[in-house]
Amino acid sequence: MIQLENVNHTYANGTQALRGISLEIGAEAFTVLIGPSGAGKSTLMRILNGLVRPTTGKVTIDKLEISRAKNVQVLAARRKIGMVFQQFNLVKRLTALENVLIGRLAFMPTWRSTIRMYTLEDRQLAFAALERVGMADYAWQRADTLSGGQQQRVGIARALAQQPKLILADEPISALDPKASEQVMGLLRQIQSEDGIAVIANLHHLDAVREYAERVVALQRGSVVFDGHPNALTEAVTRALYYDEQKATQPTPDLSTTPLLVNA
Ligand SMILES: Nc1ncnc2c1ncn2[C@@H]1O[C@H](COP(=O)(O)OP(=O)(O)OP(=O)(O)O)[C@@H](O)[C@H]1O
Ligand SMILES: [Mg+2]
Repeated sequence: MIQLENVNHTYANGTQALRGISLEIGAEAFTVLIGPSGAGKSTLMRILNGLVRPTTGKVTIDKLEISRAKNVQVLAARRKIGMVFQQFNLVKRLTALENVLIGRLAFMPTWRSTIRMYTLEDRQLAFAALERVGMADYAWQRADTLSGGQQQRVGIARALAQQPKLILADEPISALDPKASEQVMGLLRQIQSEDGIAVIANLHHLDAVREYAERVVALQRGSVVFDGHPNALTEAVTRALYYDEQKATQPTPDLSTTPLLVNA
């Protein structure tokens, strides 16, 4: 469903964020992206969501080559991609149900979306999405009165209301306590396995990676350095991923040949 072929991305300021990424990701496994800060995880997500066009390389999502598609085609493709954010990104003063309905906005004609005139079908779909994440009892509660874990479940319901083919979750549990994290990860995993929706999550918590991921893709300085089952993610692999990086990027100067100012 998702194919990346030799994808490179360099930002306008010259930062090379992705180097030679080739991957195929489908709906058959819950895929988790890991890697140290700055490795390129969010950049990869932005490319998959069509927010950023890769400098070079080919990205195909559900048969559409979004790396080359026209803007209107990218917008249409984005409707089928649900996003789940670290800070939930709900509209504070709206109810949980209204927030989920926002997931339907892109499917409406503009005249209806500007006055937020939702059809009965949209409302039913949104309510069902809230039920799915165990939040139906909170449908009419304002988003800013919900706990973080509850807000994130509403965020997942909003993504579900798009009836997506792909859900991208960028650090979905970074702001949550352990119990809420378990609920959110359990839901994402369940959505992938039961609904045939591809789910890709960026995570920093290795315990959660080991518990929920079926496939782990590790990025380091913009390149894929590991792609496999979490069982193969040994201490040595994670140490090299998170701790050896500094060594690799900042080599210790060889003091035996470095001129020290002895004769100054
Ligand atoms: N808009 C931008 N303009 C310039 N450089 C950027 C931009 N966004 C990201 N970068 C740089 O690209 C590299 C990859 O960043 P990215 O946000 O993809 O990393 P990440 O793996 O998501 O990190 P984190 O775990 O901290 O979220 C970093 O060096 C970052 O500073
Ligand atoms: Mg990031």
